[in-house]
Amino acid sequence: MHEIRLIFLGFGNVGSTLLRQVLETRETVASRAGVQIVPIALADISGVLYNAQGLPEETLRAALQAVASGRLLESLPGVLPLDAIRSALQPGVILADLTASPHTVPILKAALDAGCGLVLANKLPLAAPWEEARIFFEHPKVRWEVTVGAGLPVIATLNYLLDTGDQITAIEGCMSGTLGYLCSELEQEVPYSSAVRRARELGYTEPDPREDLSGMDVARKALILARTAGWPLDQENLAVESLYPRELASLTVDEFLAAIERLDEEYAARRARAWNEGNILRYVARVTPQAGMVGLTPVPRESALGMLRGPGNHFAFYTARYNEIPLVICGPGAGREVTAAGVLGDIIELGRSDIR
Ligand SMILES: NC(=O)c1ccc[n+]([C@@H]2O[C@H](COP(=O)([O-])OP(=O)(O)OC[C@H]3O[C@@H](n4cnc5c(N)ncnc54)[C@H](OP(=O)(O)O)[C@@H]3O)[C@@H](O)[C@H]2O)c1
Repeated sequence: MHEIRLIFLGFGNVGSTLLRQVLETRETVASRAGVQIVPIALADISGVLYNAQGLPEETLRAALQAVASGRLLESLPGVLPLDAIRSALQPGVILADLTASPHTVPILKAALDAGCGLVLANKLPLAAPWEEARIFFEHPKVRWEVTVGAGLPVIATLNYLLDTGDQITAIEGCMSGTLGYLCSELEQEVPYSSAVRRARELGYTEPDPREDLSGMDVARKALILARTAGWPLDQENLAVESLYPRELASLTVDEFLAAIERLDEEYAARRARAWNEGNILRYVARVTPQAGMVGLTPVPRESALGMLRGPGNHFAFYTARYNEIPLVICGPGAGREVTAAGVLGDIIELGRSDIR
């Protein structure tokens, strides 16, 4: 049985769900894929649990309990300073970046230098300036399926199109469940400010909803899609529309939530204008080999994007072969179970590629 020694860098929603899935699917993964996943390190911001031979089952269960009760790993016996993770970087090991941190690039590069494979759930290293990020796109031992569309096979499909010699001409879609929800609410004539507040109450937005409303998260996904397609675009090649004006950027969250009522009229007018022309507003991202845009866009009501409801995601690939009707992938673009499963799929595929 081929062993895949695995480092969890980040142990929050996705990290802990992934560990649970690794434990629960051991037999299936062994019989179907012929591999055994051996967690050797678990790290959060407070420290790392590490055992080169594999962490004992009771330590893994204790770590899951710690996360479930809101405790950091430092609350467990045997935890080491985070830097100790470097001892785990050995050839053949896979490191999964399950953080949302912009500071993991040095450890990711050290892991590649040491002969490790990488699986990224974290978008930030891939959306860094191209010269910094290119190694992750060009290195054969890096996978990043869940950074776009979570568990949906978006990157896998793009790779299949590229591997079979298709020419991608454009990639388009709705890539944010949060902004999808907001658009659906606007469509029901809910005022913009109420829709934003409700999305926040439901936990659809980050605690500071400007992180979603800025469009930057969608822009990062668009950039990752473009770069995966072989178009080395940078942030300045994307026109990004923020759904709040710059002067509201420096307010506290409470001040921001109180101030946005003044935007209600503008968004209601945009909705009405689109509706009168047979359209509906969607927060759309589109990239081509040269450039891209991300913003609120009127789309025909009867189109696939127009018929999308709530937080669903939609990705359309326009290619030489799929030209009149694009190849479309649709479904939930977030959620810890589907995201962790997508990471697990990357780990198995990358681990098996080491055997071949
Ligand atoms: N949840 C989804 O549906 C979904 C879908 C697609 C992609 N993703 C991506 O998956 C990643 C993880 O999401 P999540 O929901 O699991 O986030 P989360 O619950 O905030 O977990 C992040 C974890 O990373 C740890 N961390 C932060 N900086 C670190 C560092 N420098 N070194 C080691 N550990 C560090 C955090 O530790 P502390 O808690 O101690 O700070 C925490 O354990 C994110 O990049 C997210 O964008 C999530």
